[in-house]
Amino acid sequence: MPAPNMDVVVSLAKRRGFVFPSSEIYGGMGGFWDYGPLGVELKNNLKAAWWRSMVQLRDDIVGLDAAIVMNPRVWEVSGHVAGFSDPMVDCRNCKLRFRAEDLKGPPSEIACPNCGQRGTLTEPRKFNLMFKTHVGPVEDTASVAYLRPETAQGIFVNFDNVATVTRRKLPFGIAQVGKSFRNEITPGNFIFRDREFEQMEMEFFVHPLDEDKWFAYWVAERLRWWTDAVGVASDRLRLRPHDADELSHYSKQTTDIEYAFPMGWSELEGVADRTDYDLTAHSRGSGKSLTYFDEAAGDHVTPYVIEPAMGVDRGVLTMLFDAYEEQQLEREKRVVLHLKPLLAPVKVAVLPLLRNRPELVEIARRLAGDLRAALHAMYDDTASIGKLYRRQDEIGTPFCVTVDVDSLTDGAATIRERDSMTQERVALAQISGRIQDLVAGSAWTGTARPDEAAGDA
Ligand code: GAP
Repeated sequence: MPAPNMDVVVSLAKRRGFVFPSSEIYGGMGGFWDYGPLGVELKNNLKAAWWRSMVQLRDDIVGLDAAIVMNPRVWEVSGHVAGFSDPMVDCRNCKLRFRAEDLKGPPSEIACPNCGQRGTLTEPRKFNLMFKTHVGPVEDTASVAYLRPETAQGIFVNFDNVATVTRRKLPFGIAQVGKSFRNEITPGNFIFRDREFEQMEMEFFVHPLDEDKWFAYWVAERLRWWTDAVGVASDRLRLRPHDADELSHYSKQTTDIEYAFPMGWSELEGVADRTDYDLTAHSRGSGKSLTYFDEAAGDHVTPYVIEPAMGVDRGVLTMLFDAYEEQQLEREKRVVLHLKPLLAPVKVAVLPLLRNRPELVEIARRLAGDLRAALHAMYDDTASIGKLYRRQDEIGTPFCVTVDVDSLTDGAATIRERDSMTQERVALAQISGRIQDLVAGSAWTGTARPDEAAGDA
């Protein structure tokens, strides 16, 4: 199925309430976005799936939720104050600023990508990406603090706390989900590069001798998660090891998981081998030994760290692209989001076939209430059944339940599945259980309804 272009996805996201520009009534703000009623559900479902697979289904990883603003020494010691910068190039003519790595050639030879003038680009200069703020009432240098540009440092500075209270032995990991902030010079491609975004990071502490083994494991494991847990098409994902000159200041080796976005293959997640860089730096910086006693060797070692780090917003964007399909039915076009049921914002919509029949409306509302106790269900009777199905297809609702006139006599209703548009007739008392099983992954056994495939329903 061909991938949609960016405009199509941005338009769907706005039209259906997945993502809005932040503070839109004041003209928005570059690099900041608000997640609408469906977007927040999709995003929460993605975070829950990650947390479940990283923390709840494993016994070697625990969770953490650290503060966004930390002691500024953290960022001096971690190398971010000195080294967390992008080389930037300014155009002396149009005054715009570009990331040096986005330019296709040396500044002295190429034209400005905005105004087209030659010879106007400066040599690259470093620009620190951290947002600064002041803590307390006085805005002087002593009160400067930073909004974290990665969640990882909150994990490193809590290494000792967590290791002590959980009595973990190597290897073990600490996972965290939370906001990060970067003063990106060129935010863009919708929610791909933002100034405020969310990360899901896991720092996996290993014995230094096991570094390569665990690096390979996490690269493979994370790629598998994107295909198996999220359902992203494997031919739109690839692994790309970093060249030596693009490694972050803390990394010995990094492999990106890239997705085939409309603007080209781009990073969705990175798996980095941070060695003992951070724990050694914080041991020195804090004067507190962040080591681990290796019983076999009878000595203290500083663990090495393998870090899978992904952006939630890029994950949401990937899901929207990957799930999107426009299908030509016999008489109409339908847009469908093939989201996995566990990730879909709404799991089931209950629809009365005729909204002017109070008996049908009553059954449908009652069913929606029963379903809501177990999962995210909605009731809708604001259009014809065909239109209602299309609306749900477009937001990725995997199942619809239709209450029709026969329901009054046979005590059953129809479950309709999004992708195949086939149907099962199920007793009203069993609908809630059946939907819960289907959302959890039970096999679908629906039969075809040619009238809907033709676009009549
Ligand atoms: N702790 C390691 C770290 O932060 P990173 O490659 O800079 O590594 C990890 O970021 C992930 O965070 C990226 O793969 C990307 O998905 C996401 N990310 C980074 N910068 C972002 C931005 N400006 N907007 C949205 N997501 C971003």
